[in-house]
Amino acid sequence: MKVGVSFLTIKEDLETTINKIDESTADYVHVDMMDGMFVPNSNYTPADIKKIFKKTNKKLDVHMMVCSPNKYVKEFAKMSNVEYLTLHYESHRRPIDVINMIRHTPLKVGIAINPETKVSHIVPLLNHIDQVLVMSVKPGKGGQKFMEDILYKIETLKDIREENGYHYVINVDGGINEETAKMVKEAGADMVVAGSYVCMSDDYNEKIEKLR
Ligand code: DX5
Ligand code: ZN
Repeated sequence: MKVGVSFLTIKEDLETTINKIDESTADYVHVDMMDGMFVPNSNYTPADIKKIFKKTNKKLDVHMMVCSPNKYVKEFAKMSNVEYLTLHYESHRRPIDVINMIRHTPLKVGIAINPETKVSHIVPLLNHIDQVLVMSVKPGKGGQKFMEDILYKIETLKDIREENGYHYVINVDGGINEETAKMVKEAGADMVVAGSYVCMSDDYNEKIEKLR
């Protein structure tokens, strides 16, 4: 199981936290970007993110919780450390247009779905994408409780991938800890995002390895 670490809920300052993630065994830094419209809180612009990760080595898995994700594609495409750029299905009238925009860049493209959004909505998109980010909490803040009723989506996504020969990675975001990571692994996830479970702990690697 791959692990991305999110730094939305932290106990030390941002710089210390980013350095600790960078030196950890995490596969990715999961970067949550919020605009205060798609979700109530707001945090970074792409320029901020570029600055924060100027000297780090890890690849970034960028999760855009924003309205008009199309506005940010160009800037992220210029950052060589971004691997996945993920938009929310619910954030745009025609997600396929944004997906195509991203596919014309060197970035891999992800589609995120809120807990109430059914997999059937994104079926026509699955042929075109590299990651599905299944939200297991309401997007917008860390430290929430994992919603078990999303587990069936992971199984469905795995079946669809197998039946059609698609290649996307199934990633799960929100409320991940040792126990919930086991559940999503059994359901067929390839990757998890962990925020508070790792960043509120004293030993990042110990926690990360427990999730695999
Ligand atoms: C939620 C974010 C998550 C969040 C996860 O909106 O997308 O990435 O930081 O935090 P935990 O692991 O604490 O639920
Ligand atoms: Zn996230």
